[in-house]
Amino acid sequence: MAGNFGKIKIGVLVSGSGTNLQAIIDGCAAGSIDGQVVCVISNKESAFGLERARNHAIPAHHLDHRQYQDRSEYDAALVSILQEHAVDLVVLAGFMRIVTPVLLGAFPDRVMNIHPALLPSFPGLDAQRQALEYGVRVSGCTVHFVDPGTDTGPIILQSVVPVLDEDTEETLSQRIHVEEHKLYPAAIQLFAEGRLSVHGRRVKISAK
Ligand code: GRF
Repeated sequence: MAGNFGKIKIGVLVSGSGTNLQAIIDGCAAGSIDGQVVCVISNKESAFGLERARNHAIPAHHLDHRQYQDRSEYDAALVSILQEHAVDLVVLAGFMRIVTPVLLGAFPDRVMNIHPALLPSFPGLDAQRQALEYGVRVSGCTVHFVDPGTDTGPIILQSVVPVLDEDTEETLSQRIHVEEHKLYPAAIQLFAEGRLSVHGRRVKISAK
């Protein structure tokens, strides 16, 4: 992506607790992200992420996927809210929905996701459990641009986390979460600085 966007407008999609959302809000407030979270959308009304948004006076939208005929129609509704807020970058932060070309086409190379494993290992649900069951010694997290597949898009940043003998799904998840809260803001800041460009599967990070 060429150019420097200056202070970018970020739309965050969540389904749950939203600790990554919180890290992004905090990063914007602290100035480590040249951006502002301008809206938060959840498919779940009870998502604590919506509460976090309200706590910071950020517009919080509940968009119930069950009210729409199919994924494309749902994504069209998402796009219209995101466009109303003039969003530059769409950030999936624990959004438990598969997105379609309707969303991706409206925001080409402008939709990011974070996954709690070192992709391409352990895509999909329960990545931490998959890592433990496989017996890997390291896992971690990956921020990537979203493409139509599940956790298959071009990788922006990754961070490695050790897997300990005594780990449970919960302790491993906690250790990965700590890294996620650093990695996602870092990737978003690279986008805000206009330093990311996608070349096939590879994302290049230009020097400052
Ligand atoms: C994170 O582990 C992220 O990698 C995955 O969903 C989880 C969201 O956690 N995509 P939180 O809601 O940000 O705490």
